[in-house]
Amino acid sequence: MQRPQCSVYIATSLDGFIARPNGSIDWLSRVERPGEDYGYHGFFDSIDTIVIGRKTYETALGFASWPYAGKRCVVLTHSRPPSDHGQTFFSGPPNVLMQSLSEAGSRRVYVDGGSVISQFLASELIDDVTVSIVPLLLGEGLRLTRDLGRDIGLELVQTRAFESGLVQLQYRVHPPGRAAAPAPV
Ligand SMILES: NC(=O)c1ccc[n+]([C@@H]2O[C@H](COP(=O)([O-])OP(=O)(O)OC[C@H]3O[C@@H](n4cnc5c(N)ncnc54)[C@H](OP(=O)(O)O)[C@@H]3O)[C@@H](O)[C@H]2O)c1
Repeated sequence: MQRPQCSVYIATSLDGFIARPNGSIDWLSRVERPGEDYGYHGFFDSIDTIVIGRKTYETALGFASWPYAGKRCVVLTHSRPPSDHGQTFFSGPPNVLMQSLSEAGSRRVYVDGGSVISQFLASELIDDVTVSIVPLLLGEGLRLTRDLGRDIGLELVQTRAFESGLVQLQYRVHPPGRAAAPAPV
């Protein structure tokens, strides 16, 4: 059984942070522009499943409305919070989760949250990465990746620059030992 394509779509500061030390993403508002979503809705329409860490889940719960409506949502956590939006909870290694998502019919998975992205990268499960660099230096915060254990090669697919100063980079991931995935980004 072919495993689902796994994709990262995330915003960082120029110095590589996804959130302030307290988890705040207030700085993303600097690049909000009417009518410009930086390709997010097109990407969101292409995925059927989202896998997020518990901390990213808590951020999502603070939004005005549940941002993952219509998608299968799996929250990684060692606890068992209430499921308010049909999401399920999972604890364990990414490859075990991916096996069950394959069996459940997932085709493309949006992987989000720095800790979770790092584990999926370390497990050679990420196929493509889209990073939107916000023109800002935070100086401190939560890093996009941690403890990867090795270098991970990336192939640049596309770059786009926007009027707001945001620069978006799309990469394919080529883990050692695996042929280049033909998956679209
Ligand atoms: N800039 C952006 O575009 C962007 C995107 C997404 C998120 N963010 C921000 O990034 C921050 C969150 O990132 P983060 O790296 O700190 O946290 P995270 O990846 O969202 O969540 C980490 C938590 O997930 C759970 N977890 C992770 N791996 C697990 C596993 N294998 N099995 C069971 N549970 C597992 C643990 O929860 P428990 O402690 O409950 O066990 C862990 O504390 C938030 O502030 C969020 O707003 C920013």
